[in-house]
Amino acid sequence: MARAAKVENIIMQKNEVFGTKKVVDEMNINEESVLETEKNAVEDDVPEAIDVTSLPGVGAATAEKLQSSGFHDVLSIAVASPGKLCEAAGVSEAVARKIINAARDSMKMGFETGTQVLARRAKVMRIPTGSSNIDALLGGGFETGAITECFGEFGSGKTQIGHVLVVQVLSRDPKASVVYIDTENTFRPERIKELCVGVGLDYEDALRRIMVARAYNSDHQMLLAEKVEGLIKEQGKKIKLVVVDSLTAHFRAEFIGRGTLAERQQKLNRHMHTLGKLSSSQNICVFVTNQVMSKPDSFFGDPTVAIGGHIVAHASTFRIYLRKGRKGSRVAKLIDSPNLPEGEAPFEVTGPGLKDF
Ligand SMILES: Nc1ncnc2c1ncn2[C@@H]1O[C@H](COP(=O)(O)OP(=O)(O)OP(=O)(O)O)[C@@H](O)[C@H]1O
Ligand SMILES: [Mg+2]
Repeated sequence: MARAAKVENIIMQKNEVFGTKKVVDEMNINEESVLETEKNAVEDDVPEAIDVTSLPGVGAATAEKLQSSGFHDVLSIAVASPGKLCEAAGVSEAVARKIINAARDSMKMGFETGTQVLARRAKVMRIPTGSSNIDALLGGGFETGAITECFGEFGSGKTQIGHVLVVQVLSRDPKASVVYIDTENTFRPERIKELCVGVGLDYEDALRRIMVARAYNSDHQMLLAEKVEGLIKEQGKKIKLVVVDSLTAHFRAEFIGRGTLAERQQKLNRHMHTLGKLSSSQNICVFVTNQVMSKPDSFFGDPTVAIGGHIVAHASTFRIYLRKGRKGSRVAKLIDSPNLPEGEAPFEVTGPGLKDF
């Protein structure tokens, strides 16, 4: 997922500043060619959950067996081995092969051209933060269609950035809604109100468009992330931002000791996959926060390391390390990005929003 997003980002040549329709032609792309390829743009490039029973040889009973063995959609069948399918559905190998082939035929599994990727990238929007230092660091702001992870010690400003992004999105698009998955009980409507003053937005209107969910444990958190698609498809909400604050706190608290690490990472991986798919299929900016722990064995450099290990690091398209700077300022450092240089942005958190320092 992250790897695919990274490839896309490398091919990226156009971008748009969120809501302001400011198109930056970084490489002088011919508008017409973009428009033409946009016609063929693959809206459905992320495989949808096609009904399994539409495949030949799969009746209701077989579908139920497949479902209970974890084959929920056509994609999972298309990439399965005949042996696994025989076992799961209780069918002969010949039938299993037939089902797999039909699943493969029924979906686009192949390649797309760079031009198609470019057309899709043209839809990416950027959410500015109010600090031009941070915006410059991120090439214009926080990207939609990607996961951005912010990690840093307590009080480094992770939750503040989450609140700022919420208000920025809502003020730029009067139809947009946002989702805030709050695991630490740190979402504050009062803070939203204060930030709304900063951008001249009616706070009551803003609060109505924020869907806040308090996640009580990691399973609940994962379930909430899975429900976001339903808000879009069933309730018609125009979700443009999903904040998960904090991504890792529950996982860290629930899985203690080395013996549980594999299970924790597996669950985190699934959670990141849900968020990644959501971001790219719905063109949503996913912002997740992450704590750090100290690394007692490090003698040089910063002795802190982000929670979640390679799973979280790899699944995030952009990674930002936040630390406290001098005189109450904060410093955001871009650690990992598919197409932007690493760099640092000094800023401060103020009542009406983020400012350059
Ligand atoms: N209304 C405000 N005006 C100015 N600064 C504020 C305001 N609210 C919070 N801050 C600043 O933000 C800091 C808190 O940052 P934040 O809650 O985002 O940290 P965090 O990185 O989420 O920490 P944690 O890991 O504990 O969740 C405060 O210490 C304060 O400096
Ligand atoms: Mg916080």
